[in-house]
Amino acid sequence: MKSYTKLLSIGFTLLLFVGCKTLPATPTGLVTEKAMVVSAREEASSIGSEILKKGGNAFDAMVATEMALVVAYPFAGNLGGGGFMVYRKADGTTGALDYREKAPLSATKDMYLDSLGNVIPNMSTVGATAVGVPGTVAGMIAVHEKFGKLSLKEILSPVIALAQDGIVVTEKQAERFKAYRDEILAVNGGATTFPIDAEPGDILKYSVLAKTLQRISDKGRDGFYKGETAKILSAFIQQNGGFVTEKDLEKYQAKWRTPVAFAYKDLRIISMSPPSSGGITLNQIFRMMEPYKVSKYGHNSEKEIQLFTEAARRAYADRNYYLGDPDFVTIPKEVLLSDVYLKKRMESFSFKKATKSSAIQEGNVQMAESMETTHYSIVDNEGNAVSVTTTLNGAYGSKLYSDELGFFLNNEMDDFSAKAGVPNMFGLIGAEANSIAPEKRMLSSMTPTLVEKDGKLWMVVGTPGGSTIITAVAQTILNAYEFDMSMQKAVDAPRFHHQWLPDVVMFEPLGFSDKLKDDLKSKGYNINEDRTPIIGKVNAIRVLPNGHLEGGADRRGDDTAVGF
Ligand code: GLY
Repeated sequence: MKSYTKLLSIGFTLLLFVGCKTLPATPTGLVTEKAMVVSAREEASSIGSEILKKGGNAFDAMVATEMALVVAYPFAGNLGGGGFMVYRKADGTTGALDYREKAPLSATKDMYLDSLGNVIPNMSTVGATAVGVPGTVAGMIAVHEKFGKLSLKEILSPVIALAQDGIVVTEKQAERFKAYRDEILAVNGGATTFPIDAEPGDILKYSVLAKTLQRISDKGRDGFYKGETAKILSAFIQQNGGFVTEKDLEKYQAKWRTPVAFAYKDLRIISMSPPSSGGITLNQIFRMMEPYKVSKYGHNSEKEIQLFTEAARRAYADRNYYLGDPDFVTIPKEVLLSDVYLKKRMESFSFKKATKSSAIQEGNVQMAESMETTHYSIVDNEGNAVSVTTTLNGAYGSKLYSDELGFFLNNEMDDFSAKAGVPNMFGLIGAEANSIAPEKRMLSSMTPTLVEKDGKLWMVVGTPGGSTIITAVAQTILNAYEFDMSMQKAVDAPRFHHQWLPDVVMFEPLGFSDKLKDDLKSKGYNINEDRTPIIGKVNAIRVLPNGHLEGGADRRGDDTAVGF
């Protein structure tokens, strides 16, 4: 009897050990006790962390980090672009800020079409004609006005100092300068003051940018959207053939939005609402996967890849057709996210063979390598969290650089659907919901996300990657939740992507065997056999059970976690 009880107790302990998904993975990333910033550059994470140390909150640190990325990471950090932020305050309240660019007042539905109705090559992607009205400064001021603790001057002073004192060029940064050198020169008439010939280890000082930042520090919103900066900026864009006027700048407003929140098993996921497609598409993917025993299939196993791909296929098809700026179009959100609809959507799914996306031929759509956006995650010592993704769209945006102001302009107009059915630079096919109209915001894939577990903050996560953003965020959450990975491992794990059209599954170069790909092919999946770019550069934070924070700074870039 005694040994029977002992056996029972061992069995029970074992069961607890094996069955308990709440046993947290041992951290492998940086662990801090109180606060953390994870961003694409160490300088930006450090400045954000310093602001937190000085008594600033996560929102102050957001403004500092975002502005520091303008200096240290001009590839995507920006004054000339836009972004989205999702927050969760320590008391559990959540919200979102939309500082996405807008189409200029003079924009028209057919502005990128020639007289025959064909899309004019490069017009929405390169140079001044591609520039949407920038939203970043309005976003920062809106955040600061609503939630800031420190003064704007205190927040921006280390950023201005960084621009004056300079940043050290990293290997990866020098590679990017080289890669885009000719395009930047071509757009800027053969010469630019942007230091495209810098080598690793060089120190780059940005004195003109420091002055532009100083005007924002002195005058807030008016230091960008009115006066000297607005005059120089609008004249510069128009001289180069673009559409943004002083009136466009003056009228621009960031907008507070309600995030998309949904349950996945015992998680609550909070993500960005339209005009980003991130939250709705993430919601659809997770809810289509929910009925399946995902953890049992194994990480990046054939079955997991199939299930994820088929959920993504259906979600992206809806994304491309139904989503757009909610201030202009009615999105059937209730239906798209309803259990009945999502269940029906997956009725055609079988592990036996791939569903075909459509009759549209794959192969005539290029998947652009797109890490041009950037994401940072912040948790402060009070427990407030912000998840922020910001972008110029392409690498260095439209490549148009203002020598007088010291920053690049976006090419976000390409995120509109220039013509229904014609893919944009991410291969995304758009529809009427995302057509161009004056002051409309272009549909985005940016997916700044927060995750709660047992009612508490558990993860802050997001990534660049254009259309691959949504799948990279989803896989990072699944890696940590279903496959018990530490934050750093979840971020570093190899990723794959599918987006309905083109009807291909894309795999990162390492981590997926030929056998796995052959098995998928035999089931009818089209595998991208060409160049396989990296997918996403995730920056995330996991809250450990003792309240400490684990950073996940993506190994794919110079991304760094800093905290205390
Ligand atoms: N420009 C990329 C996105 O917003 O999805």
